[in-house]
Amino acid sequence: MAAEVHVITHPLVQHKLSLLRHVDTHTQDFRKLLKEVAMLLAYEVTRDLPLKYVPIQTPLTTMDAPMLAADKKMAIISIMRAGQGLLDGMLELIPTAKVGHIGLYRQPSSLMAVEYYFKLPTDIEQRDMLVVDPMLATGNSAVAAVDRLKEAGPLSIKFVCLLAAPEGIAHFHSEHPDVPIYTASVDDHLDAQGYILPGLGDAGDRLYGTR
Ligand code: URA
Repeated sequence: MAAEVHVITHPLVQHKLSLLRHVDTHTQDFRKLLKEVAMLLAYEVTRDLPLKYVPIQTPLTTMDAPMLAADKKMAIISIMRAGQGLLDGMLELIPTAKVGHIGLYRQPSSLMAVEYYFKLPTDIEQRDMLVVDPMLATGNSAVAAVDRLKEAGPLSIKFVCLLAAPEGIAHFHSEHPDVPIYTASVDDHLDAQGYILPGLGDAGDRLYGTR
């Protein structure tokens, strides 16, 4: 199967992403914009959800109306902490999704992902997973997260981010070619510290004002 990368080029997404990148966008606006972009990403990522036709009564007549097939259950898995910024917006659009968390931090010297928390919905084998993290940089965290999440046996996995570096995409798809990536932009490259350029800085710090 060819590894898939979907770049969401919708003008609203691109405009809001540029505002997110801007150094003068402060925490309150950053959080609001990230939530808005997450809703738009959720819209694109769920494009292939199956529909079923249900008879309904309108004020004028009856019809078979398209509704989401109820057996298509979803779980959104947030890679903490920055994943929370995408999770909140996605839940607005998919309120019936259950939520899992995986806590990973980047060891500064090696940039390797170290796990400190892992909690999933109990019926995860019956759910399609959306794994969310705003930044796909080296790919170390995303690979480690999806390694662990595959052990839980979900029906399917999609990876959703705001920005991806070419290096991160290559690394992720070398380990998980079966997991499609959805992103608002493929940026230029990583710097020596593993930051995405041009990027938007540290997504967690900008989201929570911790710098
Ligand atoms: N994580 C971030 O928050 N920003 C980057 O640029 C890379 C990883």
